[in-house]
Amino acid sequence: MQKYFPLICLLVLLAACGKEKPTNRIDSKIDSLISVMTLAEKVGQLSLYTSDWDVTGPTIREGYKDDIKKGRVGAIFNAFTAKYTRELQEMAVKETRLHIPLIFGYDVIHGHRTIFPIPLGAAASWDLEAIEKSDRIAAEEASAEGLHWAFSPMVDIARDPRWGRIMEGAGEDTYLGSRIAEARVRGLQGKGIGEVNSVMASVKHFAAYGAAQAGRDYHMVDMSDRVFREVYLPPYTAAIKAGSATVMTSFNEYDGIPASGSKFLMTDLLRGELKFDGFVVSDYTSIMEMVPHGIAADTASAAALAINAGVDMDMQAGFYEASLANLVKNGEVKEELINTSVRRILKKKFELGLFDDPYRYSNEEREKNTVMKAEFIKAAREIGSKSIVLLKNASLPGQDKQLLPLSKDVKQIAVIGPLADAKREMIGAWSAAGDWKKSVTLLEGIKSAVSTKTNVLYAKGCNINDDSTKYIAEAVRIAKQSEVVVLAVGEGAWMTGEAASRAALNLPGIQQRLLEEILKTGKPIVVVLMNGRPLTINWIQDNIPSILETWFLGTQAGNSIADVLFGDFNPSGKLPVTFPRSVGQIPIFYNMKNTGRPMDRNNKYTSKYLDEENDPLYPFGFGLSYTTFNYGDVKVSKESMTGNEEISVTCSVTNAGKRAGEEVVQLYIRDLVGSVTRPVKELKKFQKILFQPGETKEVSFKINGNDLSFYRKDMTFGFEAGKFEVFVGGNSRDVKMAKFEVK
Ligand code: BGC
Repeated sequence: MQKYFPLICLLVLLAACGKEKPTNRIDSKIDSLISVMTLAEKVGQLSLYTSDWDVTGPTIREGYKDDIKKGRVGAIFNAFTAKYTRELQEMAVKETRLHIPLIFGYDVIHGHRTIFPIPLGAAASWDLEAIEKSDRIAAEEASAEGLHWAFSPMVDIARDPRWGRIMEGAGEDTYLGSRIAEARVRGLQGKGIGEVNSVMASVKHFAAYGAAQAGRDYHMVDMSDRVFREVYLPPYTAAIKAGSATVMTSFNEYDGIPASGSKFLMTDLLRGELKFDGFVVSDYTSIMEMVPHGIAADTASAAALAINAGVDMDMQAGFYEASLANLVKNGEVKEELINTSVRRILKKKFELGLFDDPYRYSNEEREKNTVMKAEFIKAAREIGSKSIVLLKNASLPGQDKQLLPLSKDVKQIAVIGPLADAKREMIGAWSAAGDWKKSVTLLEGIKSAVSTKTNVLYAKGCNINDDSTKYIAEAVRIAKQSEVVVLAVGEGAWMTGEAASRAALNLPGIQQRLLEEILKTGKPIVVVLMNGRPLTINWIQDNIPSILETWFLGTQAGNSIADVLFGDFNPSGKLPVTFPRSVGQIPIFYNMKNTGRPMDRNNKYTSKYLDEENDPLYPFGFGLSYTTFNYGDVKVSKESMTGNEEISVTCSVTNAGKRAGEEVVQLYIRDLVGSVTRPVKELKKFQKILFQPGETKEVSFKINGNDLSFYRKDMTFGFEAGKFEVFVGGNSRDVKMAKFEVK
């Protein structure tokens, strides 16, 4: 079996000699290796199969260990721990003819062992540093457990909260989404591929997966090239520019062609325009799915379509393994094309250092000293608090003080709700190797926050998603005995994420009924929402004095929430997505167009509903604080500029309250007349700033032609002369405005 090994070593060594640059040296090593590979061995490098450690798709492949030993696979996913990856790596290195090591990949989406807020929640922090840090930690943990590759970041813009995967991305906005995409790639890849504490990123799902029609997962996507380039493409571009080592395709079709078979997406756009030079992996069985899509009649045509489109690695379909060798023999696929894909994959294996030491990431000692370190847990608690959005905080009748924050000395507090003590739910969907048993629930967080004088009572009240009323009475009983009720309601983690679309966005089960019964007790109520998407919570907004949106915050959820509930942390999160009033408003997003008949309630023939407002319940960018920020007038440094100049936009912001607090100051623009219609507002900049009580700061932003650019009528990208409005505010609705002109 090992008879060729000396030859390979010699070739690789010879190629490594001389004074070549490292990249050239890697290239010549790869050439030497490819020159001795059989076609079957090459095709093996192009296949990625799952182990049986986790289920992330509809098919599980029996016998992956045999695949490894026979060289039929180049990478494995859903397998981790230093010990297990070493075991599998040994099979590849010791038992295959060419001893080529495997890459290990996994969905490290919001933490690996230490779980951070779901990405939609983390996006609500608008804190790029914190997000980068969370992915840095995820990379430290994942790489210490033998992983080389995270299937992240997921940067699909989503304007439809029915889509369960909205939880996995940064929400609806292109600019915020792009900045977060970069931060996540930087976090995962750290100082670079090959650093032993870094993993390769895989920006996904290329492309436009977030626009699944009607919010139904895997459903068709249909959009104009203009919307694609302007709204959906930039976050992928940002991640690629930040150096994402790999790209994952999407399940959807784009312009009638499923992404995994789209040469336009995978080659012309990705490699031609965006200059991506890593490798492309298909999403789970998406090459296989081109048959039911109706674009390929059988296995061989689907495989041919994908490889010819530029998809280097086949995740889990097994179609490359089944067909590529024959396709080459029949002349339907050029062997050079296979070589190109093999070269891209081997290159990453070299860069990862796997040819120097295939086990370098599988280090049990490092694993033991790394995972769930105290400083990681602390970081999870911090970003957890930063991700919380205070949606409402009213004072109770007859009192001038708002209900939140609560006093730690309250005598008796009732903690109620199906999510109040739900450990599994805290880490949310896509929680990788996170151990839900280690998560902190809201009840636990509250118990550790309050003083010894406080008595904490708990009742579940109901289940998340059934209609049993048997727990309500107990909840009402403890509410009546308490001074204040903290009520945790929302969705189960499993109701969000992949294959978890919902047609209704209300509280599932009988949670609404529970709320109504508790409200009748007359006790002050804080609703703590836990959910992976915007919910239609008009009743809560109308009836409950204080509301915290807490998403699924991860390992430290309960502590993060308690920090906010009791005022140790002043909430500063802002919604990265619009909350509709009703499902009928969807798609609803802040950067819409004006229409020719903007809404006028007094004029029948305008753009509106008979039975619903146009406005959302909470606008994009919205979030309150325990202090108040006042915005002064917006000033521009010049009222007229040429596109090559820059203007400053300044607004004085004052913390008018008695607590220090952070505010996300947001800048939007509107191009009043364009060669194509422009959105009524577009986020172009933001700054997250700490203000001391009473402090005023002149917040200043610079705008140049690039910030005003878009795809013009002829699809060239640039700005146009004309009038602009610039808005500054603490959310996309409540803003101050100034005007300027581009000559
Ligand atoms: C998902 C991807 C994920 C892959 C591997 C697919 O079903 O769409 O996001 O990376 O499974 O688990």
